[in-house]
Amino acid sequence: MDFNTIICEKKNKVGYMTINRPKALNALSAEVLTELGKAAEMMAEDDEVKVVIITGAGGKAFVAGADIAAMQKMNAEEAYDFARLGQTTYNTIQDMPKIVIAAIDGFALGGGCELALACDIRVASVKSKIGIPEVTLGVFPGFAGTQRLPRLVGTGIAKEMLATARKVGADEAKTIGLVNYVVEENPVAKAEELAEMICKNSASAIALGKRSMNEGMEMELKKGIEHEAALFGIAFTTEDQREGMTAFLEKRPANFK
Ligand code: CAA
Repeated sequence: MDFNTIICEKKNKVGYMTINRPKALNALSAEVLTELGKAAEMMAEDDEVKVVIITGAGGKAFVAGADIAAMQKMNAEEAYDFARLGQTTYNTIQDMPKIVIAAIDGFALGGGCELALACDIRVASVKSKIGIPEVTLGVFPGFAGTQRLPRLVGTGIAKEMLATARKVGADEAKTIGLVNYVVEENPVAKAEELAEMICKNSASAIALGKRSMNEGMEMELKKGIEHEAALFGIAFTTEDQREGMTAFLEKRPANFK
């Protein structure tokens, strides 16, 4: 499938989704959000793709936020629909049965920060600036940033970032747990290094483990633990479980499909 604003590629079991609107610093219009959702569904269903890397084109921004020009004249109902579109797309990314890595090279602001939060792992270059500056525009994060950011970094830091609109540098982002790795340049290369490690392991086990964490985080602890046991049981219906454990006992590397 061809998209106007998203470049989709596949290489060595890795799917790449590049947001390609560099003149507007990859700002998220309804078209970008719709295409991003469709691309994510496509990558989710593609068995050749084991890990997905999301990045932004142009070398200056991952994504500088939702499209301010498009939002300027929205009424309340249109704004609600726009938020639901962004949230649905990000939920699709969060729910993908494979690991999604955000490779951030530059600005990840507002909806861009929220997109990175919907990914499983975040890698940033040192020049990156991450923040939720929506309050400078008279609004606040509407693509689930008020929900995912406090869950990742805690409410104290999330509320400070919300209210000050401060752009956090890459090193600080690492310190507060907002990104996993900081690299001098080329975060995609670091993401590929992680993808290579991930691809050696069982894709079905990763999908179940990710689902257990995602769904468990929304449950009360003991319910989450019980849910984990149910999914653990499902892991024992897979070929990967037989192969992984047999390979260990036969003292050879596992050969996962
Ligand atoms: N929406 C629409 N266009 C945007 C944009 C956005 N979020 N961010 C940047 N652009 C456009 C600029 O208007 C400019 O276009 P023109 O060349 O046609 O004038 C182009 O991208 C380059 O931007 P700048 O000239 O501003 O570049 P800069 O280097 O001087 O500044 C920046 C870079 C600090 C990222 C600045 O562009 C900026 O502050 N952008 C907005 C960041 C922001 O507020 N994001 C939150 C948006 S609201 C949101 O996301 C709501 C939500 O949660 C749903």
